Amino acid sequence: MKELTYKNKKLHFNEFDLTEIAKKFKTPFFVYSENILTQNYLHFFNSAAQTGLINPLVCFALKSNSNKELLKILASLGSGADIVSGGELKRALEAGIPPEKIVFSGVGKTEEEIIFALKVKRNGIYSFNVESLEELELINSCAVKLKKTARICFRLNPVVQPKTHKYISTGNKTHKFGLLEADIMSALHHRKYWTNSKLVGISIHIGSQLLDLKATKSAIIKLCDVALKTKEPLEFLDVGGGLGVDYHPDETKKLPHLSDYMNLVSTTLNQHFYSKTELRPRVVFEPGRRIVAKAGIFVMKVLRNKISENNHFVIVDGGMNDFMRPSLYGAYHELLTIKEGKGINPCHIVGPICESSDCFGSHRLMPQLKSGDFIVLCDAGAYGYSMGSNYNLRGRPLETLIKKNKRVVVINKAQDYSKLL
Ligand code: LLP
Repeated sequence: MKELTYKNKKLHFNEFDLTEIAKKFKTPFFVYSENILTQNYLHFFNSAAQTGLINPLVCFALKSNSNKELLKILASLGSGADIVSGGELKRALEAGIPPEKIVFSGVGKTEEEIIFALKVKRNGIYSFNVESLEELELINSCAVKLKKTARICFRLNPVVQPKTHKYISTGNKTHKFGLLEADIMSALHHRKYWTNSKLVGISIHIGSQLLDLKATKSAIIKLCDVALKTKEPLEFLDVGGGLGVDYHPDETKKLPHLSDYMNLVSTTLNQHFYSKTELRPRVVFEPGRRIVAKAGIFVMKVLRNKISENNHFVIVDGGMNDFMRPSLYGAYHELLTIKEGKGINPCHIVGPICESSDCFGSHRLMPQLKSGDFIVLCDAGAYGYSMGSNYNLRGRPLETLIKKNKRVVVINKAQDYSKLL
């Protein structure tokens, strides 16, 4: 991870010496970098704008990280939000993200959440990204009751098969997400859906941690076809999120550059949409991981070693309840010691949770470690804290932020027994 480097044998995160913070706070905890978060957002937005995409709107996917202080930074940079619950809507608004930059995805929006999203402004949020016809009917009926006009975007299921982990692939018929083209077309002709609703966009989101963009291109072509067929004056085309990051060194070679991704989006939209119509809808993006994964790390302390014949376990104080990706997806995350040392010892870095999947890495070459040493799990900013739980009745960990001026602030306190029990 290029954001992490050793200087004088001490690990630095974006030039910041981690030895100091590791001793200052009670482990385990997350550390985020305002510099990296800002750079990642601006890089994403500027690449979109420089490619000539029309009035791009970047709606950060809150599910990847919903820390309020981080969202405030993104809001100040102009970010919108992709939300999937009333909780995320409240959080986005509290962080200062305006309703006209919020899109609401998800297959299970409740009546209460829909009403909340309709009430936030005269005609509610920027768009409901609708995933079923029953949902469309419910949104319309809520809008009737509130005497409003709901802004609707159809999430198209483009029936493609991206290369990614099966749990985070979302663009095929077998997945619960999105609507098939035939259902979108037939819904357009049923008046019952549209008395208090207006179609303003079409969206796709085919999966996450995408490194190969073939399926993305096919899905955008499908998005264009369906958008043209609706013959509606759409205000936006939403190409979703999903762009991956390099967690493993082998992934660095495959990692699409942002400029390549933006060029693909731009040329595909030009060829398959803008060249065929007078309409000029803007482009919406819903990135999560690409913005925040590399802006965060997770710091843990070694509790003890345990050797079972030829298996060497290093037991740390962070667990799968704090950071789930390795146990849930078998995801690879680099593990580094804060004090530089030569990797001589193949070991399993495991947490305290009573599950064998509570393992952050197997057969990792580590220096000799002892109780009190610190280990950093890299690329932990996305789907880290936000997927955590209180499993085994463990309190949620602390979150800290290295500000631009290099001051370190606590942005979310650890949950102690008084809050937990
Ligand atoms: N838009 C929608 C509708 C989504 O469902 C998602 C992610 C995103 C945008 C943002 O995707 P991103 O740019 O972050 O890939 N927990 C998994 C990832 C689940 C992604 C769910 N949806 C993981 O840790 O890999």
